[in-house]
Amino acid sequence: MKSNIQPANQDAIQQAAKLLRQGKLVAIPTETVYGLGADAKNPEAVKRIFAAKGRPADHPLIVHIPDKAALTDWAVDIPETAYKLAERFWPGPLTLVLKKHPDVPMEVTGGQETIALRVPNHPVALTLLQAFGGGIAAPSANRYCRISPTQASHVAEELGDKVDMILDGGACKVGLESMIVNLSGDKPQLLRPGQISRLQIEDVLKTELDIPLSIERILAPGMQEVHYAPTTATVLCTQAELEVILQGNAFQHQHKMGVLWFGNAVASEMFEQNIVMPETINEYAQLLYSKLRKLDHAGLDLILVEQPPQTEEWRGINDRLTKATKPFDADFKGSFFEVNDIKHHCCPEIIGIARFN
Ligand code: TXA
Ligand code: MG
Repeated sequence: MKSNIQPANQDAIQQAAKLLRQGKLVAIPTETVYGLGADAKNPEAVKRIFAAKGRPADHPLIVHIPDKAALTDWAVDIPETAYKLAERFWPGPLTLVLKKHPDVPMEVTGGQETIALRVPNHPVALTLLQAFGGGIAAPSANRYCRISPTQASHVAEELGDKVDMILDGGACKVGLESMIVNLSGDKPQLLRPGQISRLQIEDVLKTELDIPLSIERILAPGMQEVHYAPTTATVLCTQAELEVILQGNAFQHQHKMGVLWFGNAVASEMFEQNIVMPETINEYAQLLYSKLRKLDHAGLDLILVEQPPQTEEWRGINDRLTKATKPFDADFKGSFFEVNDIKHHCCPEIIGIARFN
């Protein structure tokens, strides 16, 4: 397959702006993950995003804008708190949900009266936004429910020639999708945790963020149960549980296993793939998706992921891991039926007939 990856130099950025004006799709680097971009004011272009990802049309997209001055082109009744957060965190990994401007096509917002907006902190994305001169609607550039791309090559793997150009701006520095804060209602809500901590936001807002326990899927599909998932069965377990799995039976001799962990005393040669993760959050986040992707490509029967600390700072990472995995089951006897259960837990339309059948 011909690669449509282009190093993001000035010429390529100008070319990308032209493609966007023609209603085409351009994958763009941001500091969080790569986005699949289209002209947010062009409904036909926006529909192409949904088709390329295989994403249901009622799942709203994030619109990327060049600066906070552009907010009024996209939103109405903008509260003072939005400007305060924008002042403090933009450009950066924070998405604000506001009441939508009547000119915003319904295709972008999945039929909702609100819109998600962010100014990305990446020189290529910012230069492209200036050159293009409009808003760029861009969800993560992966197939629906799958692992988000943090390198240009991941986008090519996910979407191939469904995207007209992939601007290569290197590996994403944050590695986790933006935090989403909803300011369109009475109380500010945290819809998706990210690198910025809840406390940092509350410090600016001078009020607590609501964390809705169950909100309509449609509001923020990233909150659905399965997302960001490898196609290989993936289990989240504590260090003690990892040891149980390894010591309890002969499972590891019959099945190929890979592990993503902080490393410990358990004999690591039992694993076909052994990835030791950094213990610092930012470094962990930066590597997480590319390492999960690597494990997913290794022809394994099972991926084991060690649960990071369950503290406020790790909330964003734990959120993604919970959605990408099945929890360790105390009755896990290494039975293959369990693994089959895990398969069903994964996004069925993507997995199709997985290797466990
Ligand atoms: O870091 C990011 O946010 C990346 C980069 C490319 O900017 N984008 C990203 O987009 O993660 P996506 O589509 O994969 O996730 C967007 C999330 C979804 O969970 C969606 O439901 C939520 O934003 N969202 C979009 N519009 C919304 C709205 N009006 N109300 C509530 N949630 C919304
Ligand atoms: Mg996504």
